[in-house]
Amino acid sequence: MSTNPNAPTRETVLDVEHYTDRLFSFSITRPPSFRFRSGEFVMIGLHPEGAKKPIMRAYSIASPAWDDKLEFYSIKVPDGPLTSHLQKIRPGDQVILAKKSVGTLVLDALLPGKRLYMFSTGTGIAPFASLIRDPETYERYEKIILTHTCRQRAELSYGLNLSNSLKDDPLVGEMIGDRLLHVTSLTREDYPLKGRITTLIESGDLFKNSGTPKLNPEEDRVMICGSMDMINDTKAIVETFGLTEGSNSAPAEFVVEKAFVG
Ligand code: A2P
Repeated sequence: MSTNPNAPTRETVLDVEHYTDRLFSFSITRPPSFRFRSGEFVMIGLHPEGAKKPIMRAYSIASPAWDDKLEFYSIKVPDGPLTSHLQKIRPGDQVILAKKSVGTLVLDALLPGKRLYMFSTGTGIAPFASLIRDPETYERYEKIILTHTCRQRAELSYGLNLSNSLKDDPLVGEMIGDRLLHVTSLTREDYPLKGRITTLIESGDLFKNSGTPKLNPEEDRVMICGSMDMINDTKAIVETFGLTEGSNSAPAEFVVEKAFVG
């Protein structure tokens, strides 16, 4: 391998779990020198046999910053340039990992507040899977409301398994207590809470369901992650409540995923 300190490294796949024919998660070894903040994303990829160069894509890191493994949650696209290969990985295989992580869905880009809302759809839950396992999240906010909206019930499994397991987590279990609320809704199957997150915010059903007041810029902070359309639509609604967008250099009241840009 290259001696360039900024060159990507090859990491070993440790576990793979498939949830549906469209969704799976996997973890890889973490090089001791790889540092990141919970909520960030990194380029990962594979070099398929016969391909001229590696195929790399931005992936949110789903594991928290303190963990010694790196976990990812991925969609499977049958003819996707990367995921058509990535979905076949097994423990012991190798994945290429870039050196540097970046991202806007980090606690540092938000001002202090009372409640932190994390609005996610589909695999957009990944950065929040990292943040809900990070003690710093609970040090900064009193109440964390993670929403996850999917088309069908099976697509909620990854997030529900994770939030259920956190109660017994030795690091954050006690801190969490009843401060993490995981709100799930479905759009294409019967379910107690039905509808897109945008609809649930606008109708007020989200706040009724969570026992929280409507969004307000004094107390509430928001992170948004999903498809580009979901991000844009949710952002527009959050702005109608008077929240302004923050960044690493100018923290404010809400942030959106920027992994799609560039
Ligand atoms: P819907 O079933 O009404 O399209 P996807 O798998 O396409 O990314 O969708 C994941 C979830 O996000 C689905 O429940 C989908 O609802 C919802 N969704 C799709 N587009 C938007 C949007 N623009 N705003 C809010 N939610 C959306």
